Amino acid sequence: MNDDKFVEVKNLRKVYDNGHEAIKQVSFAVKKGDLVCLLGPSGCGKTTILNILAGLLNPTSGDILFGGKSVVKTAPKDRQIGYVFQNYALYPHMSVLQNVMFPLIVGKHKKSKDEAAKIAQKYMKLTQITDLADQKPGSLSGGQQQRVAIARALVQEPQILLMDEPLSNLDARLRLKIREEIRSLVKRIGITTLFVTHDQEEALSIGDKIILFNEGVIQQDDLGQNFYLEPNNYFVANFVGNPVIDNFKVEKNGDKLTASDFEIAVSDLDPSRFKRELPDGKYILSVRPENITPNPAGQIKAHVDDVELIGRERILKFSHNGVQARSLVGLEDPVQAGDEVNLKMRLDRIFLFTEQGERVY
Ligand SMILES: Nc1ncnc2c1ncn2[C@@H]1O[C@H](COP(=O)(O)OP(=O)(O)OP(=O)(O)O)[C@@H](O)[C@H]1O
Ligand SMILES: [Mg+2]
Repeated sequence: MNDDKFVEVKNLRKVYDNGHEAIKQVSFAVKKGDLVCLLGPSGCGKTTILNILAGLLNPTSGDILFGGKSVVKTAPKDRQIGYVFQNYALYPHMSVLQNVMFPLIVGKHKKSKDEAAKIAQKYMKLTQITDLADQKPGSLSGGQQQRVAIARALVQEPQILLMDEPLSNLDARLRLKIREEIRSLVKRIGITTLFVTHDQEEALSIGDKIILFNEGVIQQDDLGQNFYLEPNNYFVANFVGNPVIDNFKVEKNGDKLTASDFEIAVSDLDPSRFKRELPDGKYILSVRPENITPNPAGQIKAHVDDVELIGRERILKFSHNGVQARSLVGLEDPVQAGDEVNLKMRLDRIFLFTEQGERVY
């Protein structure tokens, strides 16, 4: 068995009964012990994929393999999966201990009450809810309920853990804390985990890798930093990282790229970054805020609309011929709202896209 492909999804397609094609053609692999984030906007198909992996939904076509073996015909209970649902789905009339034990005392392989309680207590200790054993879910905070749901998903010692936006109901501070705890727990027990989120920052912070979806198609399957540095297309560049200049149109004419009031010589671009030959025509230019900064030699004249403090740095919000954009400057930089500035781009860091969103530079 190949550990790099512990979970493998091949040519997956899902058309719901009403004809909606939620998953168009999806293939990916997850390495044993990795925590992989499935990221994407609402409705892109994340939950659909988890439900197919868990066996709660049948795919229209394609294959799912765990440890090299197809499981599409395997019943959900035999797939050795732990599933943390977005709404926790705890049993309100049972205590925390009873909730966590529950999967162990039902079904074919059920354990004695004593044995089940012992295993449950082990996972309650790991998720730090031992003190809550006798309480009912209704008296717990969101973060505590979250831990109960995780402990319950782990008691059967599954080989794969699925988590569907597990932190979305928590406040910002608790979200940061619990996401670190989840990562450290997952790494300690070495369970292969698929973690669904629509929050790019959460995905970047905890994922060993990220799979970004849009409209039922994978846009990029990669290490976090590559979504910043080497986005596959316009959607990825805008979804991950600080917003880039939106819809900045330039036109290529021979050896020049021209915008309304500035030009870039094609020879000043980094030849190794071209994805393909560029025919003359219209393109969209994007640049991240850290790569367009005030500089007296800069060609782009802009009006600073606002300045926002973000920790140790400041974001200039500026407009340039009706296009809104952002630039990152240090705290000591004197620039203020209302200033007219010249901005310079790092040409080895800009991106160029076709109008259809294909990245060409
Ligand atoms: N049972 C269903 N029948 C028909 N269409 C469905 C069904 N369930 C989901 N869909 C549609 O399939 C698409 C993908 O849904 P899914 O729940 O997988 O999205 P998601 O990425 O999990 O979104 P969210 O971030 O909002 O949870 C959506 O357009 C949704 O409306
Ligand atoms: Mg969902």
